[in-house]
Amino acid sequence: GAPIEVDLSPVAEGQDIKVFWRGKPIYISHRTKKQIDEARAVPVASLPDPQSDEARVKSGHDQWLVVIGICTHLGCIPIAHEGNYDGFFCPCHGSQYDSSGRIRQGPAPANLPVPPYTFVSDTKIQIG
Ligand code: FES
Repeated sequence: GAPIEVDLSPVAEGQDIKVFWRGKPIYISHRTKKQIDEARAVPVASLPDPQSDEARVKSGHDQWLVVIGICTHLGCIPIAHEGNYDGFFCPCHGSQYDSSGRIRQGPAPANLPVPPYTFVSDTKIQIG
């Protein structure tokens, strides 16, 4: 599949959009300061799949979270802005992901993957 460009300028703070890349749903979240603070307050070592929030976003663009929206348990599509951690909730078996897309609770073994992407401008990313 070819890379895709996504214009972020219409995505208001607190909103998410879903796009498709290589047939996969990609969630792009314009995180609030509260969501970023929550993601950074949790001790990384306490997480089931320990990854810092900083490692999952691009430096200088910390408000943008880009993840592949496929549950790492059995592949359902989690719902954005749901669940106990201000992130994503998988309705199939109840996995809860936080505002960094990291697994916090439920049967999923791993964080939502971050696809390869780059910022081509302050308001545009290329995925792939
Ligand atoms: Fe998401 Fe099972 S597929 S919790």
